[in-house]
Amino acid sequence: MPGKLFPLGGPVPEKDVVDREEFLASLQIRLSEGQSIMLAGPRRIGKTSLAYEVLRRLKKQGFYTASIDFFRLSNKRELAISLINACLENRTGVRKTFDALKDRAKTIAGMAKLTVKLEDLEFSLKFLDETNDDTLLDYALDLPEVLAKRDRKSMVVLLDEFQDASRIVDTNIYKKMRSYFQNQENVSYLFLGSKEGMMETLFSNRQEAFYRFATILPIPPISERSWADYITQKFSERNIRINAEIIKEILRKTGGHPHDTMLVCSETYYALLEAEKSDVTPGILRLGYDRALLTLAQVYDEILDELSQRFQVRHILKRIAAGSNVYDKKLNPNETKRIIDFLVSKAIIEKTGRGSYKFTEPMFQEYILREFS
Ligand SMILES: Nc1ncnc2c1ncn2[C@@H]1O[C@H](COP(=O)(O)OP(=O)(O)OP(=O)(O)O)[C@@H](O)[C@H]1O
Ligand SMILES: [Mg+2]
Repeated sequence: MPGKLFPLGGPVPEKDVVDREEFLASLQIRLSEGQSIMLAGPRRIGKTSLAYEVLRRLKKQGFYTASIDFFRLSNKRELAISLINACLENRTGVRKTFDALKDRAKTIAGMAKLTVKLEDLEFSLKFLDETNDDTLLDYALDLPEVLAKRDRKSMVVLLDEFQDASRIVDTNIYKKMRSYFQNQENVSYLFLGSKEGMMETLFSNRQEAFYRFATILPIPPISERSWADYITQKFSERNIRINAEIIKEILRKTGGHPHDTMLVCSETYYALLEAEKSDVTPGILRLGYDRALLTLAQVYDEILDELSQRFQVRHILKRIAAGSNVYDKKLNPNETKRIIDFLVSKAIIEKTGRGSYKFTEPMFQEYILREFS
């Protein structure tokens, strides 16, 4: 069975990484030269896809790579084991060395083969079972450098949803991590985070442990041209015709937002299959778009819930969505200003001129217009 035509719901495979080529090349060079990097951006903008692609390229270049996602972890021990597994995969070729060891412990020969690969790292099942969480975490944080040195390699470690570290351990975790990372000569780090405010603070606030540890780079948008080429090619793989006007309309409606664009294409594709047609018409696109918006409702409601802890946020979002003046006589202008700054800091809106703002995600704007008018 062929895979999904348009990948959704996680990092995209290599062949579906649209554009950002210059940015990818720059990330690859910086990391391979030992520079650590921080990328922060809102949800679904393609951070993890970018990072995985860079790691794939670095691996091909001969680097050791490892990645962990703090979002999936819930305590210190899990963090340690996840990092250890990610590091050891470079040696053992198995994704979860710890589980494999347990499994192979059943046959002495199987176990021996794996153990021999890890001997010089003082790593064994016994060590894992008998070591307390703090010592295990110390071992894990040290491991990238130890491994890189032993194997005469350079290593790049991806720490995804990095801001969550304090949730799963405590706020001292950053200090601890920095104390390890800053002395590592053969390892560079790629930090990703979707809570931009927190990430900014962590890396640019003098009082914070990661102050000036990494270069902060903005994530560039995907160009219209690249989207157009990709969309045309994808549909043509299934013998479907789509003309330039319709593609323009898709990109106008999604603003080229990575996830939203993929989703609209995907829903349009299914609508087309149901209609048993092979030409994307404006009507089919409308149907695909409406269905895409429906599936986004849950995401947008969550965002709204999070934002609406601030008084009057919805009111102001409605005004911006409708294109009215944000300053409403009913509201205190200082309060309005505070809310606007808050929405800008959350990357929900951006400034387009004096007193004028637009949504960073056009489909979110459309959702608000449809739901709340
Ligand atoms: N470079 C890209 N080319 C094509 N599609 C992309 C690209 N980046 C992201 N997408 C689309 O956006 C979706 C989300 O991408 P990804 O998981 O990388 O984003 P993220 O910023 O890490 O999101 P989250 O905040 O949920 O972790 C993908 O499943 C894919 O549909
Ligand atoms: Mg991600």
